[in-house]
Amino acid sequence: MELFEEKERLEELDKKYIWHPFTQMKDWLGQKPLIITEGRDCFLKDISGRWYLDGVSSMWVNIHGHRKKELDDAVKEQIDLIAHSTMLGLSNVPAIRLAGKLMKAVNASLGPSLNKLFYSDNGSTAVEVGLKMAFQYWQHKGVTGKNSFLSLKNAYHGDTIGAVSVGGIDIFHRAFGPLLFKTYRAASPYCYRCEYEKTRPGCGFECLNGMEEILKAHSEEIAALIIEPLIQAAGGMIVSPAGYLRGVRDLCTKYGVLMIADEVATGFGRTGRMFACEHESVLPDILCLSKGITGGYLPMAVTVAKEEIYDAFLGEFGELKTFFHGHSYTGNPLASAAASACLDVFEREKTIENLGPKIEMLKAWLHEVSRLPHAGDARNMGLMAGVELVRDKGTKEPYAYAEKAGWKVALRAREDGVLIRPLGNVVVLMPPLSISMENMRRMLDVIGNAIASDTG
Ligand SMILES: Cc1ncc(COP(=O)(O)O)c(C=O)c1O
Repeated sequence: MELFEEKERLEELDKKYIWHPFTQMKDWLGQKPLIITEGRDCFLKDISGRWYLDGVSSMWVNIHGHRKKELDDAVKEQIDLIAHSTMLGLSNVPAIRLAGKLMKAVNASLGPSLNKLFYSDNGSTAVEVGLKMAFQYWQHKGVTGKNSFLSLKNAYHGDTIGAVSVGGIDIFHRAFGPLLFKTYRAASPYCYRCEYEKTRPGCGFECLNGMEEILKAHSEEIAALIIEPLIQAAGGMIVSPAGYLRGVRDLCTKYGVLMIADEVATGFGRTGRMFACEHESVLPDILCLSKGITGGYLPMAVTVAKEEIYDAFLGEFGELKTFFHGHSYTGNPLASAAASACLDVFEREKTIENLGPKIEMLKAWLHEVSRLPHAGDARNMGLMAGVELVRDKGTKEPYAYAEKAGWKVALRAREDGVLIRPLGNVVVLMPPLSISMENMRRMLDVIGNAIASDTG
């Protein structure tokens, strides 16, 4: 049966059986679902044959575009050999090759000290692994009492219970409060809505001072700090001020707390460098990567640790120092092949070196958009951007959640052929890095018009 003829049947089946993530299903059931059948470059085609620009890289994963020949070929070649075998007690060729290439990329960006890589399969698991490694590291070192973590308000690190414990987005995380482990929370470096503005006006890096107060009082209880470097993505594309990340690193060193950089969203060029930590020459103790790692083709994640963390887990079999953690699809050969090809394309096409003009175009557009009456703040880090809509620009009064201000803009943009997904009142833009200048212009025009017409 032709797909188009099957359309109604598929819509019916979707509504009958599928529970979509981060979706109020009552709303979903009342709408016609957009069903994707095909992708090419930075475009997605729906079941009715209409093409849309993929303005959020299919949930921040796509890097070099859809149907990228090199990635297609790598997966096809690998599937003729083997689709999956376990990493528990075995290894496989694509995962080993990828480890070599990935460590080269990490070391080129952040220096030579991060060199032990643990595979898993999504951003949340990369974070869970990082938290557990940090926690158990101190046990192996004979340090007791480090039973807690330090994270940031507005942080998002994934949806598993460990990741939620270090999360700081109230509407996502509140319901699970009673299940979560103890975490200290420092202020978010959210300059537009600075927590300290009223009590201590003028930026004296009060958010860092607040963090230091927590560390001074509690570092003996804190195994690690976890942070999204430079930009809190799901929290609303909150860009930290220059020097903040370096300050966080220095505090971790000063107070003997490990630093976990969650680069699940920022990794692989999104911020204009391979990894966000590179912008401030920061070396974390543990690095979490996922999303763009396979260019948006297949699920995969890695947690990279410094040698001394890995070494602490070495011991005799009976000593039980083993890191008892692993997932069925760890180091999947198909995903590894896609990820290797993705890194090759970065090198061959000089993906990062070519981002400059696109970032400049985005910045100029944000500057223009920020003049609109309900655009409170317009910010970016590389090709990650957000426009925060407010009811009142003078008082910064936000729109109520139920007003769906961000969604209204997204739906308008969809009518004009651009797919985006907002974060509350923040209109998010995160196109594939491979987007052409022409398509970038088109995306910005459509979203700009949608903001202007939907917010007056
Ligand atoms: C910074 C960060 N960490 C972790 C995650 C979780 O990744 P996943 O959805 O693959 O579990 C996300 C997802 O958006 C993220 O932005």
